[in-house]
Amino acid sequence: MLDFMAGKRAYLAIHDPPYNLVAFKEREISDFISWCKKWVENSITVSNLDNSLYVWLGADQRDGFQPLPDFMLMMREMPLRPRSFITMRNQRGYGTQQNWMAVRQELLFYVSGNAKFNVEAEYTDIPKILRGYYKEIGGKLTENLQRGKSENIRAGNVWVDIQQIFYRMEENVSGCYAQKPLKAIERIIKASSQPGDFVVDFFAHSGTTLLAAEINERRCFTVDIDPVFCEISIRRLEHFRKTRRLGWQNGHPFEAEVPLPELLETAEPLPQGEIPELQRSLF
Ligand SMILES: C[S@@+](CC[C@H](N)C(=O)[O-])C[C@H]1O[C@@H](n2cnc3c(N)ncnc32)[C@H](O)[C@@H]1O
Repeated sequence: MLDFMAGKRAYLAIHDPPYNLVAFKEREISDFISWCKKWVENSITVSNLDNSLYVWLGADQRDGFQPLPDFMLMMREMPLRPRSFITMRNQRGYGTQQNWMAVRQELLFYVSGNAKFNVEAEYTDIPKILRGYYKEIGGKLTENLQRGKSENIRAGNVWVDIQQIFYRMEENVSGCYAQKPLKAIERIIKASSQPGDFVVDFFAHSGTTLLAAEINERRCFTVDIDPVFCEISIRRLEHFRKTRRLGWQNGHPFEAEVPLPELLETAEPLPQGEIPELQRSLF
């Protein structure tokens, strides 16, 4: 395992595994959790004693909310302390008229030793608007807006300010079905590591962690079981280094081999807000 990291150790691990699949096959929940246990142990092996571990996971409301609670219980056996259970709110969701729309994405945060945490990374672009919560300081009654160090609110453990990836975003990587927003990964990297630190991600997919590490001057080791996603991640980083672009809006990572159809290249841009029927059905 340490060979994978060239002998270096990570201060931060960000993992986003497939939620209830092992090698793309649906398995019994116990098999899935045994597999998770192995890669969590591997992650600990390649990490410093003072490290942070973030894991994105799902909870299937049609099936006992698995695998989230099973994973949480398994984590109690690990030499890590639970720190936070973050929810990221998606704009699009799924559900019926008879149920609450499912818009959440779960993110678990664990630490060991004296893991770093930079609270500045937690501030959002959302201004504080609510007054209240009075407290006496030096004999004077102050309200929270006076006492706060920032004009903006902290993200806390419910992130409502992050745009879910869709095809018109600059950072979109065509062909990646589970891409996480750069803003979310950058928030984690800024909060739980310093420039120059090593970050590890065992499930690269579109290479979001790799790119976020590059932008924030961290060093990243990442891997994916599928060579296509390894290639996409490398190309995304190279594309960024060459063009400063974050993805391939109106394009794709394999344009050199498979050029865009002429029709698409010459198409007029769509008026704002107009989405063709086929693409709309994907949301
Ligand atoms: C949910 S995606 C990760 C998304 C990523 N965070 C991003 O922003 O693009 C999960 C990835 O894990 C990969 N994967 C599945 N099983 C794996 C395994 N056993 N080892 C490594 N990667 C695996 C899949 O090929 C897929 O690309």
